[in-house]
Amino acid sequence: MAKDICLQLGCTAPIFAFSHCRDVVVEASRSGGFGVLGAVLFSPEQLEQELRWIDEHVGDHFYGVDVLIPVTYSKEAETSTGRLREIVPPSHLEFVEKLLGDAGIPPLPPDVQRQVDEDRRGAERNNTPAGARALVEVALRHPKMKLLVSALGSPPPDVVEAMHARGGLVGALCGKAEHARRHAQAGVDVVIAQGTEAGGHTGAISTFVLVPQVVQACAPDVAVLAAGGITRGSQVAAAIAMGAQGVWCGTLWLATRESDLLSYQKQALFKARAEDAVQSLSRTGKPVRLLRSRWSEAWEAPGAPQPLPPPLQEVLVRMAVPRIDRAEREDFYTTPCGQGVADLHEELSVRQVMVELQEGYLEALDRLAAVRAQLAAET
Ligand SMILES: Cc1cc2nc3c(=O)[nH]c(=O)nc-3n(C[C@H](O)[C@H](O)[C@H](O)COP(=O)(O)O)c2cc1C
Repeated sequence: MAKDICLQLGCTAPIFAFSHCRDVVVEASRSGGFGVLGAVLFSPEQLEQELRWIDEHVGDHFYGVDVLIPVTYSKEAETSTGRLREIVPPSHLEFVEKLLGDAGIPPLPPDVQRQVDEDRRGAERNNTPAGARALVEVALRHPKMKLLVSALGSPPPDVVEAMHARGGLVGALCGKAEHARRHAQAGVDVVIAQGTEAGGHTGAISTFVLVPQVVQACAPDVAVLAAGGITRGSQVAAAIAMGAQGVWCGTLWLATRESDLLSYQKQALFKARAEDAVQSLSRTGKPVRLLRSRWSEAWEAPGAPQPLPPPLQEVLVRMAVPRIDRAEREDFYTTPCGQGVADLHEELSVRQVMVELQEGYLEALDRLAAVRAQLAAET
């Protein structure tokens, strides 16, 4: 039987905040929830620095780390890390150059470009199975890191064992009940049932359908968190009603005060509607729910090349994004984001968002209590 997740992780509210930004992670844990740092963008050295900073600022609270451990990876790509650009078809490179050039998005100055190329080569090394292992090793060295999450597929047995040996928990995301069963068999303690509404790599099943199925597949032995489209306290109540122990949110923190997104990026998110969060291959070559923009639309236009399989499409994204950011081109801004983006309207602090979620949750419970009282009075 899964123990209460808050008791195990030392938080007061079962609200998990996924973010690539350390300030969001710290503030989420300090506000009673549980912050989880997405490690995919960091080299092992950078992750070490980020976690040291989190350790210093998080006080007596705990946090998690999410690592994308690729289950399948192209051998050609693995032997070409740092040189992936060389195996990208020239026609794709030309397509991106023309797209940005025609839109008046200038190339970067040579010194900035050199730094970007160096960062890109570093990121390529981290996204291989061996690179992910190196990130896990860094994470395991930090005692306040209490939850290690595998973003893709079940975590390897030795990782589960190492985390359990140090008294921590292991989590994994799933988009189908059968994935959840596999995670449970692999010894995972927390399954994050992520519906199609979510930002990031998503499947086809909605949160409202998926969560009860995952709960049925692996609770009570495994704790289930509901993810995908959750921005309100009433949805937290719905998740608990469906048998989840809590919620896991990503989009909700993107435009918070602590988030390191640029101002033009936050503005783009405030304007977005639910239908602007579309599934697209334009980011990683796999279906990612992201903000529709001229970048995603260009890959769907007639005559556009087919997006490349992982990890090559990301090489193109890493070429384009620094140029788009430098030009602050909202119309080309590309980021994973879920349908809940429609509920982001202003720059609130992480603490304010946490408070609003909890107030909304309590209001929902009051509504349910009133329904229950009325039913009792009628019978
Ligand atoms: C910008 C962004 C980046 C994401 N990157 C990752 C990632 O690297 N690893 C991961 O496990 N999930 C990632 N996700 C998915 C989140 O973990 C989470 O499941 C999802 O955001 C929940 O749905 P929501 O966006 O509707 O809140 C990302 C989500 C967003 C919005």
